[in-house]
Amino acid sequence: MLLPKDRGFVHPHPSEITAPEFFFSRRAWLGSMAALAAFGADRAVAAAAPALPPTGARSTVAGAVTMEKLTPLGDVTSYNNYYEFGTDKSDPAQYAHTLKTRPWTVAIEGEVKKPGSFGLDDLLKLAPMEERVYRLRCVEGWSMVIPWIGYSLAELVRRVEPTGNAKYVEFITLADRAQMPGVRSSVLQWPYVEGLRLDEAMHPLTLLTFGVYGQVLPNQNGAPVRIVVPWKYGFKSAKSIVRIRFVEKQPATSWSLAAPQEYGFYSNVNPLVDHPRWSQASERRIGDGDLFAKKRPTLMFNGYEPQVGSLYAGMDLRKLY
Ligand code: MTE
Repeated sequence: MLLPKDRGFVHPHPSEITAPEFFFSRRAWLGSMAALAAFGADRAVAAAAPALPPTGARSTVAGAVTMEKLTPLGDVTSYNNYYEFGTDKSDPAQYAHTLKTRPWTVAIEGEVKKPGSFGLDDLLKLAPMEERVYRLRCVEGWSMVIPWIGYSLAELVRRVEPTGNAKYVEFITLADRAQMPGVRSSVLQWPYVEGLRLDEAMHPLTLLTFGVYGQVLPNQNGAPVRIVVPWKYGFKSAKSIVRIRFVEKQPATSWSLAAPQEYGFYSNVNPLVDHPRWSQASERRIGDGDLFAKKRPTLMFNGYEPQVGSLYAGMDLRKLY
């Protein structure tokens, strides 16, 4: 097994930790700022969007709230990867206002006892919303700390009752040329597809996500519903999901189809496995300063090793990257 027992959890440096009283008051402040500034040009879309149901208390799921400094909302909503709207970081914020997030349904298909489809309102009510403050580490070498709103995907998975044949879960996202200018490009195969093993999908940290910073998700962040899988590189966190399929075989995913030697199915954050073209040992925290700001070491499983390491016991994570 690749994971030495002594690696342990690397705690954030004290200077990165915000005391809870500051954390919560700042969060409240940012929440109200969000109402004013988050959606910029697509404010009309945001105004038409439903409010999120009241968010419950802070999550009690182990590892679900890091006290590290939050990435400013402006960065979270303006520095994005959402290739359906273009490949530049600024494209999604500029173009995603054309995404229609209502009406919206998510179809549940494949190896489940209860297939069907959920309208957005049903999904919003399915389980109590929580705030989860997760590190997001992109394979490109940058990271953010983001307060997401949602509930564990496991809540939905349990409702639809996977059969014994369900080994993997495939997330299929919207691909509509009329709404998404990037879909005309052949940079990826559309629709964007991601997948998880069933036990990864059922892990309480895997979040079915509807909001960020106390607001509904801005379109560029994957409205109206996405997943966030905090221990994997950001690309596993599929945006604007329209179908969830339970399957027996490991699904082909967009990035592993585009560049199989660079992006494997698992894509766990792993500082020991370099991307073929660059190191994965460290990361630049967005908001920390300019491009020359000191990088910080990348943690195994993005710091979630105590919670998720056991999912991969016995696997050679250099081969299964
Ligand atoms: N989902 C879809 N449908 N299309 C995408 O291009 N990009 C992924 C992921 N989900 C992507 C997607 C990548 S590469 C990253 S790093 C994260 O979304 C970025 O999420 P954020 O923009 O909310 O930070």
